[in-house]
Amino acid sequence: MQNNNSEILLRKMELSDVGDVLNLQANLAFLDWSLEQYKKELQASSTLSFVIQKQESVVGFALFHLLADESELLAIAVAEEFQQTGLGKILFNAGKNELQNRGAEKLFLEVRESNEKAKKFYQNLGAVFIGTRTKYYKNGESAILYRIDF
Ligand SMILES: CC(C)(COP(=O)(O)OP(=O)(O)OC[C@H]1O[C@@H](n2cnc3c(N)ncnc32)[C@H](O)[C@@H]1OP(=O)(O)O)[C@@H](O)C(=O)NCCC(=O)NCCS
Repeated sequence: MQNNNSEILLRKMELSDVGDVLNLQANLAFLDWSLEQYKKELQASSTLSFVIQKQESVVGFALFHLLADESELLAIAVAEEFQQTGLGKILFNAGKNELQNRGAEKLFLEVRESNEKAKKFYQNLGAVFIGTRTKYYKNGESAILYRIDF
């Protein structure tokens, strides 16, 4: 499915978006952040945040951290009905551009071992496997660690 990018608005995530972000998250596996976690990240000066809005709805978002020349992808998600239309890549590239402009040279991320969609998405973006954190998540699942060099 092709996405018509002229219909989307890419912008910074505001505190007022958190309700929509939680609704989007509720329909997806693999993301279970609380309202407080989102608020805390949005208030931190080290956080870069983006949403994609289509008409009145938030259909995707991403959060990144920047620390000196290293950065981290904290979360990225696209509403199920708009997945595989390029929106995830738009969100990722928006973060990458801003992080690069601010001096980041690499990005780290972690993903649940069972999250095949996200692993394919990250590998497609050039992610290199750097390790595993065994039984990292509450349910005993391991985390796969990746690095992307800009
Ligand atoms: C991971 C996620 C954000 C990807 O977003 P998306 O909008 O579907 O990704 P895109 O359409 O931009 O895809 C970009 C590339 O990744 C590949 N890709 C994305 N999803 C894929 C899948 N399910 N299987 C295979 N490849 C996939 C695409 O083929 C595309 O490649 P191309 O550029 O060569 O065409 C989305 O699947 C998602 O929201 N998942 C649920 C939340 C989640 O698990 N987030 C990660 C943990 S925080």
